[in-house]
Amino acid sequence: MIDIHCHILPAIDDGPAAVEESVEMCRMAASDGINTVVATPHFNSVSSNDDPARVMAAAAELDAACRREGIPLKVLAGADVSISSELPTYLKTVPHLTINRTGRYFLAEFPHNHVLPNWERFFLSLLASGFVPIITHPERNAWFMNNPDALFPVVAKGVMVQITAMSLTGEFGEDAQEVSLYLLRHNLAHVIATDAHSVTYRPPVLSEALSLAADLIGPEKARRLVEDIPSAIIEGKPIALDAPLSPGARKTGLF
Ligand SMILES: [Fe+2]
Repeated sequence: MIDIHCHILPAIDDGPAAVEESVEMCRMAASDGINTVVATPHFNSVSSNDDPARVMAAAAELDAACRREGIPLKVLAGADVSISSELPTYLKTVPHLTINRTGRYFLAEFPHNHVLPNWERFFLSLLASGFVPIITHPERNAWFMNNPDALFPVVAKGVMVQITAMSLTGEFGEDAQEVSLYLLRHNLAHVIATDAHSVTYRPPVLSEALSLAADLIGPEKARRLVEDIPSAIIEGKPIALDAPLSPGARKTGLF
């Protein structure tokens, strides 16, 4: 499996404080069956964040540490990018903002409780310039939780959606779980990622969520969300996505 959203670099954001815990997270990810992780520290603006070169060096160092420790995990560089009006410029000038520096896919993080005005038009303009936004965990955003169908028109045009493993398993609460199941059922979620921050309270584990997703949408389709689609993302290749299913009444529960 491939985890495209993980706060695993030491002392860079709200992830692990020291390299020892980063290595422990790598070990945990590998033993869960994850073979590649994209290290995605938060990015707000060039001025408020670490030097991009430092992020890329830290990812390379952690990758080297995995080799040294015999951990079968590849670590790539990326970022968890806050939405801002400067985004088009940042995407063109800060290399690690697109996942694995391919210049194509990037994690797009909204504020927790709302979306920005005209976000749909903004995202479509990014798509038109060759960048594919992957909206991170809308099932945990208060506005999307109440308006999940707002994703249909943008997903139909090629915007992608990532849901969090711990939302599916219920650790972010019943509402986040229900919304994540709704998104899966309607082909509105394309990737499951850990958004891990530590070995304890937000661990890098995908297998439990994969098994829940398999119960809901079938094992083959569920596997695509943690293998085939993330693999194309890290390679910057185009992806044929299933068309989103038409909006309907909110459904709840697993079956
Ligand atoms: Fe994140």
